[in-house]
Amino acid sequence: MNKTLLLAACLSAATAFAHADDIKARQQYMKEWGGATKKMAAIIKKSDAQSFPAAEFAALAAQIQQNANAPWQHYPAGSNGRGSDATAAVWAQPQQFQAAIQRFTQAANNLHTAAQTGRFDAVKAPFGQLGESCKACHKTFKD
Ligand code: HEC
Repeated sequence: MNKTLLLAACLSAATAFAHADDIKARQQYMKEWGGATKKMAAIIKKSDAQSFPAAEFAALAAQIQQNANAPWQHYPAGSNGRGSDATAAVWAQPQQFQAAIQRFTQAANNLHTAAQTGRFDAVKAPFGQLGESCKACHKTFKD
C-alpha cells in the first residue's frame, strides 16, 4: 500500500469509528421502542376493558413519547455503513425521512394522550397507528 492509500484507509477508518457512537445510540433507542411496543402489544392482546393494566400501559407509551425526538440527531451524513441497517435513503431523501419522523411523533403523542385516559378502548386504535408509523419508516429507511 502506498502512503496515499494508507492515509485514505486510515481516514475512512477514523470516520467509521467517529460514527460508531451515533449508530449505537440510535439503535439503542430503537431497541427500547421495540421492547416497549412488544409489551404493549402483549397487554392489548390479553386485556379487556376490566383487566387492562392502565398504569403499566401508560408508562410504556410515555417511554416512547419522551424519547420520540431523540434518535434523529444521531444520523450525521456518512453514518450509513458497517454496523448500521439505515438505508442510503435517509440522506438521499431527507424530506421523506422528516415526514416519516413527523408521522411517528404524531402517533406517539396520540398514543400517550390516549393512554392518559386509562381506557382500554381508547388506546387500541392509536397503538395500531403507532405500529404503522414504525413500519412505514422502516420500509424505506431500514434494511
Ligand atoms: C423515521 C424513521 C423510523 C421510525 C419512525 C422508527 N424507526 Fe426503527 N429504525 C429506523 C432506522 C433507520 C433503523 C436502522 C438504524 C441503524 O441500524 O443505524 C431502525 C432500527 C430499528 C430496530 C433495530 C435496532 C437494532 O438493534 O439495530 C428496531 C427494533 C426498531 N427500529 C424498532 C422501531 C419501533 C418499534 C418503532 C416505532 C415505535 C420505530 N423503530 C420507529 C428508522 C425508524
